[in-house]
Formats: sequence, C-alpha cells, structure tokens
Amino acid sequence: MKSYITTPIYYVNGSPHIGHAFTSVMADILKRNRQALGCDVMLSTGVDEHGQKNQEAAADLGMGYQEFLDMRGKEFRSVFDLVGISYDYFVRTSREGHKEAVAGMEQTIFDKDLIVKKNYTGTYCKGCEEFKKESDLTEDGQCPLHPTMQVEQTEETNYFLKMEPFRERLLQHIADHPDFVQPEAFRNELKQMLAEPLEDLCISRPKSRVTLGVDLPFDPDFVTYVWFDALTNYLTNIDWPKEGYESWWAECEHLIGKDILKPHGVYWPIMLMAAGLPLPKKLSVHSHWVGAGGVKMSKSIGNVVDPIEVVEKLGVDALRWYLARHMRADSDSQISVELITQTYNSELGNKIGNLLSRVAKFSNKNFGGKVPAPGPLSAEDEALRKSVVEATSGFSRWIDLQDIPARAQAIVTLAEEMNEYIDKQAPWTLFKNEDTRERCQTVIYVTLDCLRVIMEALQQVIPGSADKALAMLNAPAAPSPWTPVLDRLEGNGNLGEIESLFPRVQ
Ligand code: MSP
Repeated sequence: MKSYITTPIYYVNGSPHIGHAFTSVMADILKRNRQALGCDVMLSTGVDEHGQKNQEAAADLGMGYQEFLDMRGKEFRSVFDLVGISYDYFVRTSREGHKEAVAGMEQTIFDKDLIVKKNYTGTYCKGCEEFKKESDLTEDGQCPLHPTMQVEQTEETNYFLKMEPFRERLLQHIADHPDFVQPEAFRNELKQMLAEPLEDLCISRPKSRVTLGVDLPFDPDFVTYVWFDALTNYLTNIDWPKEGYESWWAECEHLIGKDILKPHGVYWPIMLMAAGLPLPKKLSVHSHWVGAGGVKMSKSIGNVVDPIEVVEKLGVDALRWYLARHMRADSDSQISVELITQTYNSELGNKIGNLLSRVAKFSNKNFGGKVPAPGPLSAEDEALRKSVVEATSGFSRWIDLQDIPARAQAIVTLAEEMNEYIDKQAPWTLFKNEDTRERCQTVIYVTLDCLRVIMEALQQVIPGSADKALAMLNAPAAPSPWTPVLDRLEGNGNLGEIESLFPRVQ
C-alpha cells in the first residue's frame, strides 16, 4: 500500500519558524507510522519561492532573486534536517521541471475555455497574495490574517479561472467523501465557503507588478498567480504528467494549517476538476500555535519560539514531543520555551527517561551488565504488560494527523502506571534477600521489556531518543510490520552502555 503525504510549501520571505517546523514534524510522524505498518510512503516538504511577498523580501535585503532563494532554500532545508524530517522530496518551485508543468496545467485549462481575461478593481492583501472581498476584511478595512500589512487598492487586467461551474460538484464530492476534510469543524468551514456563488479566481499577475513567477504560457506579459503555481507542486513532485504519478496521487493527503484551508479546499480542487484530474484523498487541517497566555507570537512581544534555539537548548526530541503531544484538535494551542522545558523535564525526563536509567543501571550493577532472566509472572506483571500492549497498540494502527496527541498521551499515562508498578514492587528491596531475588529478576525483566516496547512505539515520534534507548537495552530489531510483541528482550542478554536519555534542563 502507498501513502503520499505533503506539507504546505512555505514562503521564504522570512526564516523558518515553529509553525513551519510543526506541520513538517507531524508529516514526519505520520510517515514513520505508516512505514512501521509496512506502507510505501513518500513525504514532500519544501519552499514556495515565487510571488510578490518573496520578491519584495529579496529586494529588501538587496539581493538578486537566485541568490536570495538559494540562501533561504538552504536555511529551510537545514532546519528540517535539524528537526529530523525524513522527507523524500524537498520542493523548490523555481525548479525548471515544476515551472514547465505549471504552464502545461494552465494551457490545458485555457484550452477548455475556462480562463478569461478581464479588468478588475479590488483590494489586495500581499500576506495572503489574494484579492479580498469587503466582507473578508476587518472593520477598519484590514486583512484579519495580516493586520500589520496594509491592504492595497489595485486595478489591473488579469486572467481569471471560472470557479462557479464547479461549486456544486465540489460540494457533492465533500458530501460523498466525509473523510475528504478532517477534522469535521474544518469540513463545515469549507462547506460555508462554498455556500455562496464563487467569484472567478485571478490566476495571473502583470509583470509590471510581479516578475518572480512562472510565465503564463499564453501571454508573456503575465506571471502565474503564486497559489496556482504552488498548489501544483503536489503533482509536479511525483512527476506529473509523466506516467507513474497516478498511484501516488491516488493516495495523496495534504497536511495544512487552518490559514490555508480556502486555497486547498476551494481553489485546488477546482483547478484539478478544470484540468480533468482526480482530487486528493484527504485534507488534514490543524489549528495554530500561539504564545503562552494565548497571545499571538510576534517579534515585538518577544514570544517567538525559534526551533533552532529549542533544539540547541533541549534537543530535537523535546521539541518534537511537545509539538506532537500538545496540539489541540480544533483550537489554538500555546507554546513557549518554558512550556517545552517543563514538558520535557516532567514527561520525557521524570516519567520515561528516569525510569529507564534507574532500572537499567540497577540491572547493570546487580546482574553483571545483563538483563536478568525472569521467573513466573504475577498478576501485577500481567496487568502491566496488558496496559503496555494496549497503550502502544495505537502505534501499530494507522495514525491520522488529529490522532497524534492522544496516542502520545497514552504513552505518558502508561509511563505513570509503570512508575507506580516499580515503586510498589520495589525491586531494590527484593534484591536484598535471597528468597525474593528471583522475584526481583522478574520485576526488572518485565520493566525493561515493557520499556523496549514503548521505545519501539516512540520510534515514530522521537526516533533519535528511542533508538538510543533501544541501544541501551541492546534490543533486537523491532518487528516489521510493527506490533507490540512482549518478551523479545533476551533473559541473560547483555545491556548496552547506559546513559541519561533526557538529562534535566533548568
Ligand atoms: N506558501 C503558502 C503555502 C502553499 S502550499 C501549496 C503558505 N506559506 S506559509 O509560509 O505562510 O506557511 C503556512 C503554513 O505554515 C500553515 O498552513 C501551517 O502549516 C504552518 N504554520 C504557520 N504558522 C503556524 C502556526 N502559528 N502554528 C501552526 N502552524 C503554522 O501559506
């Protein structure tokens, strides 16, 4: 089975930030989950290099376009590498093959008489790179998504894609495929966007205003609207229109933030219908991160969370864990370096890492660097093992974007149960007496073997730390396809070198 997961391609007008890292980390978690299930997965992420916003950012830095785009491309790529995104394809829309295919798509739609040229007067938001209706604006006439960027009055001749002929069909598609947009709150939002007749979509920009873009194949005085160009990446990454793309396209899932639901839920499906292509399988939509106290992150407030700074201070898995564990499904979630530090210390450190190092060190010291062989299991051992299988089985099933926090939470609850188990069994006391030494061995074995299962599951979320823990346990290769299988740690087998997994950070 195949799965093609995409992230948005990010504008390069600024440096990569936590929001960009978030969607790409979630995509990476989904990829690792599906691979563990035996799926053939392709993950694309990358950058959106065209449009007025990027063009002006290059000019502000006094840089030539190519030099600017190369610099930003490297910057985004290195942050995605830093946070462990196992992307198969890094998108750059300035790539020749992409540009050719975008022009091909436009020509196909143009030849069907679905693109018209006309004069248009309207309000333009550079942040969204789109024309706005009066009803889209705030009371003082600004874009609600970009209140600090003044909207502009623009009068221009442009090319427009007819949208209204496809509206009913798109609504029908949404009704027939309840899974097309998840979660439901965003499906309803999309239906709302489609409740009224649609205006034509402006798909060009005159070169007098924007030059950083793909030339319109049927009029050299214009470049392609950046969204038309960017959305097409999802097809050009898999080599559309060349043969072989179809099987990937049929399994395509777009991960997006709620800010870009309209282009993905309205423009893109209609572009595809106009070109005679099937729609993607699914749009998985997430809410946003905001600063502590629910305040929007901004440089002036000083509450911007920089992914590089977090990784340097706490390590990549502190960041990945927080992002996976604390995003709420349909409302914004709070993030700050302090919150990440607290979660890292309390969940990864106190509940998981300490348990592992305490028990592994004890075993190392008292059983000659080995995992002790277990004796008969007690009812308490069996109960714990059952909980381990239940909680980790969330990782042997298909994970959707909105499932990630709950699956991670199940591991925390499980770790709490394991800590209670070990405190109650008190192997340190059992070891002191010859008569209870075998029981001690069993408790240690059960704990280490359960930790092995947990770490195998966590390979999907925090792969670096999980691999390190599995090396400490000298665990055999995990089952493939992955399921929680007990008793795979060898009794009397050697332990690896024990080190602190999540050292405490103040
Ligand atoms: N270039 C377009 C997307 C084109 S896709 C064909 C774009 N770029 S963007 O740089 O503005 O990135 C938007 C995306 O970044 C969001 O949809 C989301 O995935 C991510 N995020 C940006 N800010 C975010 C938060 N504060 N929180 C979570 N994710 C956010 O739009």
